[in-house]
Amino acid sequence: MQAEYKQRREQVMAKIGQGTAIIRSAPTAVMHNDVEYVYRQDSDFYYLTGFNEAQAVAVLAPHHEEHKFILFVQPKDKEKEVWSGYRCGVDAAKEVYGADIAYPIAELDEKLPQYLEKADRIYYHIGRDKSFNETVFTHYQRLLRTYPRRGMGPTAIEDTCTVLHSLRLHKSDAELDLMRKAAEIAVEAHNHALSITKPGRYEYEIQAEIEHIFRLRGGMGPAYPSIVAAGKNACVLHYIENNCQMQENDLLLIDAGCAYGYYNSDITRTFPVSGKFTGEQKALYEIVLEAQKQAIQEVKPGNAFDAPHKKAVRILTEGLVELGLLKGEIDKLIEEEKYKPFYMHRTSHWLGLDVHDVGIYQHGENPQVLQPGQVLTIEPGLYIVPDTEPAEDQPAIDPRWVGIGIRIEDDVLVTSEGNEVLTAGVAKEIEDVER
Ligand code: GLY
Ligand code: MN
Ligand code: MN
Repeated sequence: MQAEYKQRREQVMAKIGQGTAIIRSAPTAVMHNDVEYVYRQDSDFYYLTGFNEAQAVAVLAPHHEEHKFILFVQPKDKEKEVWSGYRCGVDAAKEVYGADIAYPIAELDEKLPQYLEKADRIYYHIGRDKSFNETVFTHYQRLLRTYPRRGMGPTAIEDTCTVLHSLRLHKSDAELDLMRKAAEIAVEAHNHALSITKPGRYEYEIQAEIEHIFRLRGGMGPAYPSIVAAGKNACVLHYIENNCQMQENDLLLIDAGCAYGYYNSDITRTFPVSGKFTGEQKALYEIVLEAQKQAIQEVKPGNAFDAPHKKAVRILTEGLVELGLLKGEIDKLIEEEKYKPFYMHRTSHWLGLDVHDVGIYQHGENPQVLQPGQVLTIEPGLYIVPDTEPAEDQPAIDPRWVGIGIRIEDDVLVTSEGNEVLTAGVAKEIEDVER
């Protein structure tokens, strides 16, 4: 893997030329008092180094004569390591992670200027860590002040996204191996959830069994807070309380993904708690399923990123008209976004090191073109949210639909021939989710 991290750094360095990139590790976060959340490295930092400790800075300085990849890390400290775990230390940072030179993080202010003074710009992502933002600005301002006398030095700060995120958008074989594993574990967890759900059980019981499988199979844990939403809870898109008892006529919407080796899966399934859909649930489910399947067919190289969304919106709108939840001419309903009270989110996002992964969706007027190696979700849904007002000129919502929320979500890899659904192993056909 080190060879691949090196290759990624070289790709970034080729783009930044006379610039210097400063990449900061993720800050730690307090859970309460003196207890911290489990540490998770910043995705950009991890992508370029594979280094998973806090209090670290990576510098890429392709124009520097001696050092092009510099790491600042926490030094070895026997006493501290007894309390809070192993540190790689300065020497191993060089040997194991391939830095041209490594320094203790405490020497950052002293050592950083030599990597900035000949750069024409600094690449830096202004992040969550306010004091580190301040550090970078201070160095930048100091060099800017002496710029007139030296006639060189950085005169701009540019976000690292411009040189890094188009790389992260295209997954390598090694990355896809990890994504397949993240998908495989979540597939098993979702199928298990389907098999143990019944009226009277609590949402959190299902969450616990899902997340048990995530860890049991070597995953880092949930990729995001698992959503286990019965009945009308499914109409809250980010419902994470997961504390209700499931009733006979509820649907259960589960949106849960696994993090494995820093990569994520993101799956949603919706199925009847009792094992049988009601007529209304089935009618809406059929529409969402059809929209999802047809949207997946739009995932192929050369298609626009929003082609699956457009397809999903069309199928959902047609279905809503058929059921009497909307009325009017389909194209006009779509143009006027009359479906939005029932479908208020987008159909896709990129997936990778981040669940909502980095990468551009739109270049000005033109949507991103799908290319092999990209991974995106396809996740249409319909939500008949209680107390929703119909859109202007639209019929009143018949109470029999109210409180039904459905989403079906798969993770789809763009391949040279079309696509591969990484999460295809989870049941979604009606005969498979009915028991
Ligand atoms: N679970 C977050 C999403 O589906 O985008
Ligand atoms: Mn998603
Ligand atoms: Mn999801």
